[in-house]
Amino acid sequence: MNAPRDGRVGQVKEVTSLANPVVKDIKALALKKFRDQQNAFMAEGLKLVIDALDLGWTIRTLVFSKSGLGNPAVEKAAARTVAAGGLVLEVNDKVLAAITRRENPQMVVGVFEQRWTALADVKPSGNDVWVALDRVRDPGNLGTVIRTVDAVGARGIILVGDTTDPFAVETVRATMGSIFAVPVARASEQAFLSWRRGFAGLVAGTHLKGSVDYRTVDYGGKPVVLLMGNEQQGLPALLAETCDRLVRIPQAGRADSLNLAVATGVMLYEVRRSALALEKPAS
Ligand SMILES: C[S@@+](CC[C@H](N)C(=O)[O-])C[C@H]1O[C@@H](n2cnc3c(N)ncnc32)[C@H](O)[C@@H]1O
Repeated sequence: MNAPRDGRVGQVKEVTSLANPVVKDIKALALKKFRDQQNAFMAEGLKLVIDALDLGWTIRTLVFSKSGLGNPAVEKAAARTVAAGGLVLEVNDKVLAAITRRENPQMVVGVFEQRWTALADVKPSGNDVWVALDRVRDPGNLGTVIRTVDAVGARGIILVGDTTDPFAVETVRATMGSIFAVPVARASEQAFLSWRRGFAGLVAGTHLKGSVDYRTVDYGGKPVVLLMGNEQQGLPALLAETCDRLVRIPQAGRADSLNLAVATGVMLYEVRRSALALEKPAS
């Protein structure tokens, strides 16, 4: 490793105790209260950490298992962390399992600064697509939506009202790394409604009682905000009324509704159809 490895030298420390204060701080990131206090979150896996560094996210701490010693990619990530002013911890499997709360943890964990996009900076133009999620509760749904937004080349997410935390461990896991590629803004319902008044594109809301089939709407030639409702209650009246179109995805069986993340995926592939048609299939 380029960086000094001695626990008493530089920013690389060997840690074997769960009582170590840095380890305690990282473990605390399992709770939103401490993520907010520290303005930080944890991401697991070497690929995610490298992607995050490549995308310019600020790393606070890199934790790696002793088994990673001698792995050039791990050592390079450690050297980049030190160069960025971060701390590197070399730990045993017991510490890594406690930090990740997993029996078979990844070899590398990164602690990064949270990054939010201000709603005022969300200025959709051209064919941009943003997804607005009303009070999304389930971390798996939010992570899957973030991953799908990334996959279809949509621009970002607006979290409306009281939602689950995009920086929760379960959410970050479900994004499979897309948390680092997709801007996330947050707003109260009132703030979103006021932002919406200044948005000249199409707001397409999805609703079980939507008046039109989602496939009959022309989403092209303008920026689109796709508004999705809460898992239990759907879109409240104030948000539904602000939509230019309220669309429905047809269903044939006995299910009441689609899962939120599935419905978002179906919609995004329709809204982005012409843009995705230009993509060449992977060979
Ligand atoms: C699980 S559903 C909510 C179900 C809720 N019980 C209701 O009455 O709306 C979560 C969100 O996914 C979207 N959704 C799910 N199925 C849909 C469908 N068939 N058509 C349109 N939107 C749908 C809507 O945005 C909905 O608010």
